[in-house]
Amino acid sequence: MALTLTTLILFSFLVSSTALTANSELLISKREKLTHFRVYVHDKIAGSNATTVTVAQASTTNQSAMSFGLVRVFDDELTVGPEKSSKKVGVVEGMAAFSSQSEVAMSMSMNFVFTAGKYNGSGLTIVGRTLPLLKTREMPVVGGTGLFRLARGYVQTSTYSLDLKSGLGVLVYDFSVYHY
Ligand SMILES: *[C@@H]1O[C@H](CO)[C@@H](O)[C@H](O)[C@H]1NC(C)=O
Ligand SMILES: *[C@@H]1O[C@H](CO)[C@@H](O)[C@H](O)[C@H]1NC(C)=O
Ligand SMILES: *[C@@H]1O[C@H](CO)[C@@H](O)[C@H](O)[C@H]1NC(C)=O
Repeated sequence: MALTLTTLILFSFLVSSTALTANSELLISKREKLTHFRVYVHDKIAGSNATTVTVAQASTTNQSAMSFGLVRVFDDELTVGPEKSSKKVGVVEGMAAFSSQSEVAMSMSMNFVFTAGKYNGSGLTIVGRTLPLLKTREMPVVGGTGLFRLARGYVQTSTYSLDLKSGLGVLVYDFSVYHY
């Protein structure tokens, strides 16, 4: 009787651990790792070939010192170094909405699309709030695709350079991302 019970328990353990392996193959076969990397974002807000466009604003936006109600869409180049001639690794496409009435704050949704380098074919998504006037900003990384499946983390951003004449801003994005 005792032997039968032990056999039964052992059997059910084997069955459930087989099911567990099948269900969480990704989690068991690979260990989660932390990756840090940097990319530069080229954001041209004015002039010819602008990569950021204003798509909407409220009738009251012009009277708001916080640009409350302004919505922009961007498609900015990503490079490994700060120069425009530096190796291109993809684009970041997204949207920024000025969404505070009391300070300059933007609600951001950004998709990093890598098309070259070791992350070619993979993507990362950021959704968060940013205060563009702060020296260092931080936003959450909420997910990813390809090599970045199940990603979570954060990104720290600062302005590398800003040329008011051409309207070109170069931004540094320092990612810290957990993924498998
Ligand atoms: C804008 O893009 C076109 C086509 O790629 C290019 O020929 C032109 O030199 C660019 N202009 C500026 C100011 O970068
Ligand atoms: C807001 O100001 C801009 C620039 O001066 C102007 O082009 C635009 O028509 C104004 N929009 C509204 C809704 O008043
Ligand atoms: C990126 O990956 C795609 C699809 O595998 C491939 O066709 C392309 O040549 C790669 N690009 C670079 C720059 O490695």
